[in-house]
Amino acid sequence: MKTNPLYHMQNKLIVANWKSNFTKNEAKNWLEEVSKINLPNESEIVILPPFTLLDYVSNFVKTQNLSFKIGAQNLSMFDRGPHTGEISADQIKEFAEFSLVGHSERRKLGETEDIVKVKTETALSGMLTPIVCISNFDQARGFEFDQKIIFAWEPENAISTNSQDAKAEDLDSVKMFANKFTATFQNILIYGGSVNSQNVKDYLSVPGISGVLVGGQSLDPASFGEIINNAV
Ligand code: PGA
Repeated sequence: MKTNPLYHMQNKLIVANWKSNFTKNEAKNWLEEVSKINLPNESEIVILPPFTLLDYVSNFVKTQNLSFKIGAQNLSMFDRGPHTGEISADQIKEFAEFSLVGHSERRKLGETEDIVKVKTETALSGMLTPIVCISNFDQARGFEFDQKIIFAWEPENAISTNSQDAKAEDLDSVKMFANKFTATFQNILIYGGSVNSQNVKDYLSVPGISGVLVGGQSLDPASFGEIINNAV
């Protein structure tokens, strides 16, 4: 397994992307349920709450002495200043050590390659580990100089499909992508797109895949617990 110089990841990374879900009470319930699960030593859990819950989740994790890491789902391309509605890297850094960058749901709203690159650099200079979402190989180009970046490959048509099993052709394309990626880049690569408790092990068995980014199936504590347990 490759190590990331900023974040010394030795284990499989299981990232829960809550997207635009959960109020404080719902987050409390999720955290209480998931904290009852015996976490295997081989996995590192990262929770990506919405901005409104970063403080609450990081406080819960600290006070309950849980081993979860925290990340944001996005960050501003600007440093702090007169940017109404933006959340800067140093504001996030109070609560989190990761930030997702360039999720395809954001790219669809107009986040360009240039913006994704600026945000990635902003995250790095703010000492956040960027998890840059890419849906094709070319989107990783131009970043390879920096091994601190984690890449999450999420084929657009694989997101939110609710498919139960990783089909043979899906796994083949994951293998092909991971092969090509590791031949070119030194960075950590994780996979995302309808990951669930039945297919997680298959994806994590692909050489070069060091973790998973889980959306829909991370919202239900029981399903997420099964993903964690089936990942090892
Ligand atoms: P999904 O989402 O697991 O619901 O497909 C993954 C993602 O969009 O990060």
